[in-house]
Amino acid sequence: MTNSIQAWRSAIVHSVADPADVGIDASYQYFEDGLLVVENDKIIAVGESKELLPIYQDKADITTVEHGLITAGFVDTHIHYPQTGIIGSYGEQLLDWLNNYTFPAEGEFHDKDYARKVADVFLKELLRNGTTTALVFGTVHKESVDAFFEACETHNLRMICGKVMMDRHAPDFLVDTEESSYQDSKALIEKWHEKGRLHYAVTPRFAPTSTSEQLTQAGELLQEFDHLYLHTHLSENQQECEWVSSLFPESKHYLDVYDQHKLLSERSVFAHGIHLCDDEYHRLHDTGSAIAFCPTSNLFLGSGLFRLNKAEEHKVNVGLGTDVGGGTSFSMLQTISEAYKVIQLQGEKLSPFKSLYLATLGGAKALRLENKIGNLAVGTEADFVILDYHATPLLTFRLDQSKTLDETLFVLMTLGDDRTIARTYSAGKCVHSRDS
Ligand code: GUN
Ligand code: ZN
Repeated sequence: MTNSIQAWRSAIVHSVADPADVGIDASYQYFEDGLLVVENDKIIAVGESKELLPIYQDKADITTVEHGLITAGFVDTHIHYPQTGIIGSYGEQLLDWLNNYTFPAEGEFHDKDYARKVADVFLKELLRNGTTTALVFGTVHKESVDAFFEACETHNLRMICGKVMMDRHAPDFLVDTEESSYQDSKALIEKWHEKGRLHYAVTPRFAPTSTSEQLTQAGELLQEFDHLYLHTHLSENQQECEWVSSLFPESKHYLDVYDQHKLLSERSVFAHGIHLCDDEYHRLHDTGSAIAFCPTSNLFLGSGLFRLNKAEEHKVNVGLGTDVGGGTSFSMLQTISEAYKVIQLQGEKLSPFKSLYLATLGGAKALRLENKIGNLAVGTEADFVILDYHATPLLTFRLDQSKTLDETLFVLMTLGDDRTIARTYSAGKCVHSRDS
């Protein structure tokens, strides 16, 4: 007979606070020979094996993990599932990349069967990479969001998605209207928002593709329903920023366009935020809004270097985003690796514990889900990953030389990718196993 309590004996590390607030040492817990105990979908204990085994060895089915490390499932705070098929498209910066690659690809998502096929590929890729929660763009078509949420339900994933609102400056086959975007978004909210582990995000693409009237409607939706997210792009590319100034001459700056339409809130997530002025950081902080830092995308599209120190200075919430398909990897480990390089280019350091925080608890905080996901605290949902120290010959060889947890984590984050994810669990169930 199997027990309803499951436990994993392994090295365990998880983030408990932002190193910027409490210092590195108080920002994480590490159990060299740890035990993670799960009952149904929740974590009921985490700690040293020698303390927990006497309590649980007769009550739990225990799996011993060899040469592995357990941590929380990764949280990707900005990604586009319809762009899975155009990841790695050559040669353009943002505005041409949108016109030449993105818009044609997104045009296919009126077909729900096609959307479901892509959603299945996309979710499989997220889980192969250890990502258990993401804030996801659909397309302008409501079918794209139905297909996505239906696919999420089959794995019981905590996911956030929304239909793109876009009523100008895009091809005819990809624009909605002020009225249809409001009605379609509302119908999707009523159908999906807070159904099980799913949440809805009101998703105007970015300021240039919405009229002021449409942005006003987006703000009204946020007033009408509780706990909705607002998900959009902000200040990614210089030409984009100039375009926004010319389209909204009455706004003080880019963020002010969203502010004037009442789109800043504790559940607002702005992707990129590269070219921001101090006043924009202040407003992000004052409203509890968050930025998704998307390093692989920012480098690939030549957008610029995100200034993490500015965000920290102004106490703005930050999560990490892959931004696939502008970003080049689904792997949050690879995303961390590129984040490190973006920070290096500014003469600073990104510690592996800050990276762990950004990829897990920081992302959960940006999404206001830190009481449910983001670490392995007792009472939270059992979304976690098992990382394999022996994923590749090089990793085995390199980690053999490692003397500290810092070094081990940093090497995992620098060399790691999908091969490093041995297993992914969502709500206590295995949703990806690399070797089976
Ligand atoms: N700005 C507006 N749309 C997009 C998009 O699809 N990707 C990125 N990276 N930036 C955007
Ligand atoms: Zn994006």
